[in-house]
Amino acid sequence: MSQISVEQIGAVLVLKFDRVEKKNALTQEMYQTLATKINEAAGDFGIRCVVISSEGDSFTAGNDINDFANNPQMDEGSPVFNFLFAIHNFPKPLIAAVHGRAVGIGTTMLMHCDIVTANPNSVFSMPFVSLGLVAEGGSSYLFPRLVGHAKASEILLTGRSFAADEALQMGLINEVSADHFGAAMKFANILAEQPPTAVINTKALLKSGSHEAINQVMRAEGELFRMAMDSDEAQQAFMNFLMKKNKG
Ligand code: COA
Repeated sequence: MSQISVEQIGAVLVLKFDRVEKKNALTQEMYQTLATKINEAAGDFGIRCVVISSEGDSFTAGNDINDFANNPQMDEGSPVFNFLFAIHNFPKPLIAAVHGRAVGIGTTMLMHCDIVTANPNSVFSMPFVSLGLVAEGGSSYLFPRLVGHAKASEILLTGRSFAADEALQMGLINEVSADHFGAAMKFANILAEQPPTAVINTKALLKSGSHEAINQVMRAEGELFRMAMDSDEAQQAFMNFLMKKNKG
C-alpha cells in the first residue's frame, strides 16, 4: 500500500498524499511512488498536467521523523532525491493544492511547482534548523530569490511558520481559496487546454536560467543534510519529537 492515491481526471493526473493518521508524513515508499508516477506522466501524451494534493486535514507533516531517526538512504538515487529530481525536471505544469500543515519538504516542494493554491487554514513551515538539519529541496537557492535574503534568512533560521496570506504576499502561492482543490483543478484544466508544446517550451524557458544551478544546490544541500542527520543536535531533536516532547 503506497499511501499515495492516484487518479486521472481527463488530462490531469491527481496525486494525493494519503497517510492521514500520520498527518501525511512522507515515507521512502511514498517518495518513490510519487517519483515514479511523475516520471511516467512526463512521457504520457494523455497527461498534460499533474496536481499534488492530500487527503485528511494536512498537506503533509514533512519527512517521516521515524525514517530520519533510522538513517535512511538520502543520496542520489534514494527515494527522496528521486522525488526532488522528478519534480524539478517535470516538463509539464505541476500544480499543488495545499491545506492544513505543509511542513519541511511540504513547503520546499512548492517552490518547484508552477501554480500553488492554498486553503486559508494552511500553515507553512521549514523547521530544518530547529531539527538540527539544513535547508533542502533547492530551498536555499529558490527561497531567497523568491522572498529576498532578509525574509528567507528569518524564516529558514528561526524555523517559524507562516500562514496563507503571508505565503501569498511573498509569492510562494498563487491563490488562497476555501476550495483549494477546486481552484487547483481550474488552473489545471485551463493549462491542459493550452497548446501542449507551447506550454512545455515556455515552462522550460522560465526555468532555463536556474535549472542546472538548482541541480547543483540540491546535491550540496543533500550532502550537508546527510551529515547533519548523524549529529547529536539532530538525533536529539528526532528523539524529542518521537517522545512527544517537542510537538507543534
Ligand atoms: N513523522 C512521523 N510521524 C509524524 C510526523 C512526522 N513528520 N508528523 C506527525 N506524525 C505522527 C505523530 O507522531 C502522531 O502519531 P501517533 O498518533 O501515532 O502518536 C500522528 O502523526 C498525529 O500527529 P500529531 O502530532 O498528534 O498531530 P497534531 O495535529 O497535534 O500536529 C503537526 C501536527 C504536523 C504540527 C505535528 O505532528 C508535527 O509537528 N509534526 C512534525 C513535523 C516535522 O517536524 N516534520 C519534519 C520536517 S523536516
